Amino acid sequence: MERILPFRFDEKEGVFWLLDQRRLPLEEVVVPVRTAKEMAEAIRAMVVRGAPAIGVSAAFGMVLAHLRGENLEEADRLLRQSRPTAVNLFHALDRMRPHWGNLEGSLKEALAIWHEVEETERAISQHGAKVLRGQVLTHCNTGPLATGGYGTALGAIVEAFRQGRVSHVWVDETRPYLQGARLTAYELQKAGVPATLITDNMAGFLMARGRVDVVLVGVDRMALNGDFANKIGTYALAVLAHHHGIPFYAALPLSSVDPGLESGEGIPIEERPAEEVLELRGMRLAPPGFPAYHPAFDVTPHRYLTGIVTERGILYPPFDEALRHALGLA
Ligand code: MRU
Repeated sequence: MERILPFRFDEKEGVFWLLDQRRLPLEEVVVPVRTAKEMAEAIRAMVVRGAPAIGVSAAFGMVLAHLRGENLEEADRLLRQSRPTAVNLFHALDRMRPHWGNLEGSLKEALAIWHEVEETERAISQHGAKVLRGQVLTHCNTGPLATGGYGTALGAIVEAFRQGRVSHVWVDETRPYLQGARLTAYELQKAGVPATLITDNMAGFLMARGRVDVVLVGVDRMALNGDFANKIGTYALAVLAHHHGIPFYAALPLSSVDPGLESGEGIPIEERPAEEVLELRGMRLAPPGFPAYHPAFDVTPHRYLTGIVTERGILYPPFDEALRHALGLA
């Protein structure tokens, strides 16, 4: 099967090519990124998105800064300001810092960050598949486009389908940016997994009718107690799953845990332009002049989680102990 890659590095030309995710699924267009400044803009504009993919892209942004002789302090600052919620961005840039001034070292580290995404997601897919069965519901996009590897939640879902454990996937469209409708649907179609698109507000109805066996989502930043930020709508889904007694899991690489946060309260939540709520592909939905609010993420309290799927296996409550142990902090 053809593998989906959100980016590719042309080492000879020193160009990082991004598959423009704003234009999927209708058009597959790649855009060249030549400087850290351009990379920061591409991340901000969602040409590339998804927590692990943002981390890899930011790391290569620093490689480009070396290649183009940009001021490294400024490059790092611009990349850090591109998007606030996914912690992978900051972890990747922290890892690049010791290699500042050394092109070879910086390229090696960026490639290592990318390689680790693939390795951890292979493990996440295997572990995650074990908790999945029947009909799975997922939110946002957590597949190869969001990571540069196999995917976190979606990697596990595809693996579970291959193992015959999962029969069908409900794909939340994920208003307002539609990552589910545009990107997850695209990936599942390519992977040949039977799936159906629903609007986010249909999940409760399906759960009440017994048509959802398990929910699996991704993570943009998890605190040490297991509270986590993910795409707006995840919290509502967690509460619904809890109400209906449906297992609710989050899948993430341990690099998406912020060891500096004890709880989800301190997670910075990105607010995106109101236009993304007010318009759909340029078409106005509300009366002219009407205001809209667009928090791009929400925080799900750990009490709604059945388990956390990581590259080290599945973690169960008490999550603070399990996470500290998995991170080697205990
Ligand atoms: O705003 P996005 O598209 O970058 O948000 C992506 C998500 O919320 C994903 O669920 C998350 O990054 C996990 S990706 C493996």
